[in-house]
Amino acid sequence: MEKLTQIRSQLPALSSQVYLNTGTAGPLPEPVRAAMVESLAAQAAEGRIATEYYVKLNQLKAQVRAKHAALLGCEPEEIALTQNTTDGMNLVTLGVNWQPGDEAITTNLEHPGALFPLFAARERYNITIRIADVLNRPEEAPAVIERLITPRTKLISLSHVSFITGAVLPIREIAEVAHRHGVLVLVDGAQSFGAIPVNVKELGVDFYAVTGQKWLCGPEGVGALYGSRTAAAQLRITFAGYGTAQAYDMYAGLLPKGGVQKLEQGTVQPANLAGQLAACRWLTEEVGTDWAYARIRRLAATARELLARVPGVTVVTPAETAGLVTFQVETDAERVLKALAQQRIIVRTVPHPRSLRLSAGFYNTEEELEQLAEALRPLAQGG
Ligand SMILES: Cc1ncc(COP(=O)(O)O)c(C=O)c1O
Repeated sequence: MEKLTQIRSQLPALSSQVYLNTGTAGPLPEPVRAAMVESLAAQAAEGRIATEYYVKLNQLKAQVRAKHAALLGCEPEEIALTQNTTDGMNLVTLGVNWQPGDEAITTNLEHPGALFPLFAARERYNITIRIADVLNRPEEAPAVIERLITPRTKLISLSHVSFITGAVLPIREIAEVAHRHGVLVLVDGAQSFGAIPVNVKELGVDFYAVTGQKWLCGPEGVGALYGSRTAAAQLRITFAGYGTAQAYDMYAGLLPKGGVQKLEQGTVQPANLAGQLAACRWLTEEVGTDWAYARIRRLAATARELLARVPGVTVVTPAETAGLVTFQVETDAERVLKALAQQRIIVRTVPHPRSLRLSAGFYNTEEELEQLAEALRPLAQGG
């Protein structure tokens, strides 16, 4: 069977719709569903306190950390398991040793996953948040951000791929600027992980937060946070649970785990971990990351070309894309969204500026993109 057909046969959600919203959540592959069901069946049959239950759970956690480390280009010791991207963003943002009057920098391309933890830190520690305007000039972000750095800046928090415009930010250059000024860099990798190659060491960032349910096609409930050893040593623990400690004493307190793993918390659902492990294996061993990244890139370029030819459509996403392609219509975006959904074509709207956004998954076909473009023809042009 042709590779794409084989991959699509493992994604049942594709048969009933044109699935162009992996940026919200990817379709669940059969091997992921099977691993989750198997885990739940074992829990029901053996009991959740079965002999070796915690030994196996710890092994599973180690396997999931190792898979994420391999995908991100770091050591397993530099990975903490989290619940999702936003969890990782919170753990770092609220863990900075803030003093009143300190400053953080972000951009006007960010998702609440980066913004809300900053707002919480401002509320709690009375910090100032500076917002870099890079909406129409993402490539200039290093210079724009550098102009906002002051001696009080402690953190730059921003996404690798903007959920609004789909722009890929020059993270390596931004990290170089930040480190010249002794500022930590936290990256929201929700729209990059599984969509484009990511190597945190080459990027030179301090922290990188990712999740499973989007481009990896994993379950909800498992994410990962990369943190270098030196950066992790500067962070305070916000949520302390048994996952945090190597050991503790009732009177002396806890001895945290080394590195970023001191940010891990407590009880987790093993079925989610089993699903996430299966998703990592499926992507790396069956689909192949190089194949997936190349295909996403090609499909996103095709989508840009097809959309640019539709009267009334303006493509917002710059030429350097990951898997997201954002476009505007001359008519009401919400009405267009609904009309597309009625034809079983699933995209989404994004705010500031109000636009529509498609996600080009590695499993999508060129025909599906043509279908979207054709469906937009009667919908996009204003009166
Ligand atoms: C850029 C970005 N950051 C964060 C999130 C939130 O991700 P999560 O649900 O994994 O916290 C999303 C999508 O929902 C996103 O697009």
